[in-house]
Amino acid sequence: MNFLVIGDVVGRSGRIALKENLNKIQKQFNIDFTIVNAENSAGGYGLTGKIYEDLINWGANAITLGNHAWKQKEIIDYMEKNPNHNIIRPLNFEIGSPGKGFKIFTHKNGKRILVSQVHGQTYIDLPLDNPFNSIDTQLLSIINDHNIDYSFLEVHAEVTSEKNGIAQNYDGKFTAIYGTHVHIPTADARVLERGTCFQTDIGMTGDYNSVIGMKKENAIKRMRTGSNEHRLEPAEGAATVSGAVITADKDRKNSIQSIQIGGVLDSNLLS
Ligand SMILES: [Fe+2]
Ligand SMILES: [Fe+2]
Repeated sequence: MNFLVIGDVVGRSGRIALKENLNKIQKQFNIDFTIVNAENSAGGYGLTGKIYEDLINWGANAITLGNHAWKQKEIIDYMEKNPNHNIIRPLNFEIGSPGKGFKIFTHKNGKRILVSQVHGQTYIDLPLDNPFNSIDTQLLSIINDHNIDYSFLEVHAEVTSEKNGIAQNYDGKFTAIYGTHVHIPTADARVLERGTCFQTDIGMTGDYNSVIGMKKENAIKRMRTGSNEHRLEPAEGAATVSGAVITADKDRKNSIQSIQIGGVLDSNLLS
């Protein structure tokens, strides 16, 4: 099967690029299942019910979040009112947090797909359980006991070392482990020694003529002054859809390819 994972969709520009390109990418790479990170999709901060439904209508199958998960409070109500939603938040959010950290999907071909997300702890100012403990206690038995054919672990984390540590530790346990949150794609997409596809960060779906998706002027003012009084807003130029295509079959070798479509990082992969 062919899977598409898309990095953090940032604001309107990111949403427009996804809407215009998702079907084309799915056709080009013969995609069977798509996971989209939408933690920055609503004005750069969080996700709304309306945007969630748009993303699903445009072709996403599962939506992941991150540190900005609840910036739009309405998404918590939306999840409660729509219990069959396909939204996945970090598994290691503190006990009692809304939502869920993984979901099992059954594809129309009968294959069972686990989608999950954990949050890194380094340089992250959130109450989080240790991601290794959460994976050990909540995910590994699910993969073993529930006839999972393909499993995806998204590591939403600030530092590359933590993402690499988690990936190396769980190499062979998941079909793919990939990072989000940094908003810049890394050039290390590869298959690890025990067969898990890995990329430290799959980048953002946003305007790269910016500071990680936000208008550069105020982002730079913040850095120069050390003051947060300058408001950060999503950049409005053409966005690049950034992510990875993962091919996995029980009897074939897995593969992963980083993709950038449109905007200033376009790698001319669409025919
Ligand atoms: Fe993000
Ligand atoms: Fe994030």
